[in-house]
Amino acid sequence: MQNNISNFTYFNPTKVVFGKNQISALDQLIPSNKKVLITYGGGSVKKFGTLDKVKQSLGDRVYGEFGGIEANPTFETAMKAVELVKKEGYDFLLAVGGGSVIDATKFIVAAAEFEGNPINIFGSGIGTSEPIKSALPFGTILTLPATGSEMNAGSVITFKEKQAKVSFGSEKVFPVFSILEPELTYTLPKRQLANGVIDAFVHIMEQYLTFPVGAMVQDRFSEGLLQTLIEIGPDVIDETNKDYNLRANFMWTATNALNGTLSPGVPQDWASHDLGHEITALYHIDHARTLSIVLPALLTIRKNEKHDKLLQYAERVWQIAEGTDEEKVTGAIEKTKEFFARLGAPTSFKDIDLGEEVIDILVAQLEKHKKIALSERKDQTIEISRKIYQAAL
Ligand code: NZQ
Ligand code: ZN
Repeated sequence: MQNNISNFTYFNPTKVVFGKNQISALDQLIPSNKKVLITYGGGSVKKFGTLDKVKQSLGDRVYGEFGGIEANPTFETAMKAVELVKKEGYDFLLAVGGGSVIDATKFIVAAAEFEGNPINIFGSGIGTSEPIKSALPFGTILTLPATGSEMNAGSVITFKEKQAKVSFGSEKVFPVFSILEPELTYTLPKRQLANGVIDAFVHIMEQYLTFPVGAMVQDRFSEGLLQTLIEIGPDVIDETNKDYNLRANFMWTATNALNGTLSPGVPQDWASHDLGHEITALYHIDHARTLSIVLPALLTIRKNEKHDKLLQYAERVWQIAEGTDEEKVTGAIEKTKEFFARLGAPTSFKDIDLGEEVIDILVAQLEKHKKIALSERKDQTIEISRKIYQAAL
């Protein structure tokens, strides 16, 4: 078993432009000869004036729009944008929105240049998982801190008919730049703010809560970010609180939670995400609200395998100093669950009105999508995943 920090290459080419009124920097960020396609979601950017600001900043550039990208973006919708890009000859994309718009745009820029059927960008029983050789350049304007997609090379796409959520990743789909304006989060409703806090929290946990390899920097970065979320989470979800630094800290935490800072050379899990994606694909539950259900159950079932890191998490993140090791570990899992509940998120299937009947169905989906050897040791079998779903009832 790995007990040292593994070799790693660290690479992140995304330029981050952070702060107030940064949309005006678009003029310097996009070459003036580019034909730009602006991509966006269900209309929040129109309603709150962000799209108008973007258009103003694009100046004399030729641009078009593609709206209507759904939360949990679908392959079907993204393919319509691919056709548009090819037909109209767009050579730069600008994603304005949350993780869904950014993820869809990553797929669009890769698919537009892909030789053959773009479905083969995906694996997991959907396509043949072929490498992406090139992609169009794109930038993002982030409106929802949560996924880290604004500064990473991953994307998650939903296949409606197949009831599957499948991810792909490639260095070719790092955004060229991302504009992070904390004030754009002022229009987010409580539920999306809570989703953002929880998604970022679980991203950190998937890279941290495995087994120790002596990675002091990665561990302490993770612990610092987790503590930040615990400290600010309850204030962040108050949609009436327009404190600039509060939202700035939230935004930068969520970006750092999944931009490659925490993962170099350390084991990673991602099983909570895998189990959660099946719940979203079948029952349309928000991504973060599947994680708040799955993670506490997973930590409980995998307590022995994750013992050393759970103890470290208990002592350093939750500052639990009293009790036996076993009590500290269970205490930390309990506190994690309470934290999610305090943010108004579900922590069991019961909280989202689902029961025992979903377990067999979800397990069958995991099998179909080849999620049969999960976790940092690839030893989370389908039977263990079943136990985790059961523990979440
Ligand atoms: O569609 P519009 O009208 O814009 O409304 C959106 C959407 O309904 C709304 N919203 C966004 N910014 C807003 C706003 N409403 C008011 N004010 C604003 N400033 O919020 C809703 C949710 O947006 P969405 O983009 O779906 O949320 P999120 O950023 O949480 O993204 C979720 C997607 O990202 C994937 C998830 O699986 C899911 O599909 N993930 C991507 C990852 C990655 N690329 O690295 C990692 C994550 O683990 C995650 O899996
Ligand atoms: Zn996530």
